[in-house]
Amino acid sequence: MARYKVLLVPGDGVGPEIMRYPVEVLEGLGVFEIVVRRAGLSYYREAGKPYEDDLFDIALEADGVLKGPLATPSVRGYESITLRLRRILGIYADIRPFHSLPGISLNKINVVIVREASEGIYSGIEGRIREQGISLKLVSKQASRRISEEGFKIAVQRGYRSVYAVHKATVLRATDGLFLETFYEVAEKYREVATGDMLVDSAAYRLVKDPPESAVLVTLNQYGDILSDVAAAVAGSIGLCASAQLGENGMLFEPIHGTGFDIAGKGLANPVSALRATQYLLYHIGYARGDEALRRAAEALDTAINNIVVVKGIRTPDIGGDSSTHQVATEIVKEWARLLGQDA
Ligand code: IPM
Ligand code: MG
Repeated sequence: MARYKVLLVPGDGVGPEIMRYPVEVLEGLGVFEIVVRRAGLSYYREAGKPYEDDLFDIALEADGVLKGPLATPSVRGYESITLRLRRILGIYADIRPFHSLPGISLNKINVVIVREASEGIYSGIEGRIREQGISLKLVSKQASRRISEEGFKIAVQRGYRSVYAVHKATVLRATDGLFLETFYEVAEKYREVATGDMLVDSAAYRLVKDPPESAVLVTLNQYGDILSDVAAAVAGSIGLCASAQLGENGMLFEPIHGTGFDIAGKGLANPVSALRATQYLLYHIGYARGDEALRRAAEALDTAINNIVVVKGIRTPDIGGDSSTHQVATEIVKEWARLLGQDA
């Protein structure tokens, strides 16, 4: 019996290639109804519109949305579909874990970037006045408090040693200043956790040169976008990384990479990003609904990725292997089913 509903949006570029495997995992559990809807540039070329009409309604009804990378048609009047989806779901926290895998990563790293996702320079308030463009950076006390709370909660739940605010309050006193001040107010309630802050430029430097081995970085929207690509490079490949986004009206899970049009259709894409997104979906729905079986399925997926990619060394070329998308994904899904079977 289907207990949960998931909206799956395969997306563009490598999207359809890698988003097939989450379906195998979810179907394997027998408690998911999966509704597939198309959106993006490839859909636009076929249908003359950027997404299927009921896309957002289904997203709002679903327990979770699993989305591949999307290209938005560069036609006047279309905002980024990804950003629209985040806005409609009321997404406020974008949680992006990065941990190193032995033999794959450039350096040891274990951080969670907790990215504010509802405002900042992504406020969407912008315009052109003759030859000047203005994009408004909006930072509210309320959103700063909420994202800081989320950062500390994650640190406590997952056992991270320290929580840092990442900002540029030395220059942006109004916006980043308010964020930083609010972060330290929230920190008062979590005295057991080590707390600090970093300027965003030195955070980028540190992530590469001397990456934290147990830290949560709470940061504003655009800094989180940029730093997560930096952290992904350190972790070994952006093809390994995904994000879990929590909202007032739903949850969204997606790889953090783009469409990869240059490698699409060649079997080169790393399917781990899509399977990580699935792992986070299982974990968060399991947590929200108090379903232990989903939490166990999430853990098994983490172990399966590790067993196949790290231990057995079955890897796509972005992390030094010569296996195809399909080979890697099939091995992981098989291993996952085996681990769950052992569990039962
Ligand atoms: C990400 C992406 C998005 C962002 C784009 C597709 C709007 O880069 O999720 O990191 O900037 O948030
Ligand atoms: Mg990005």
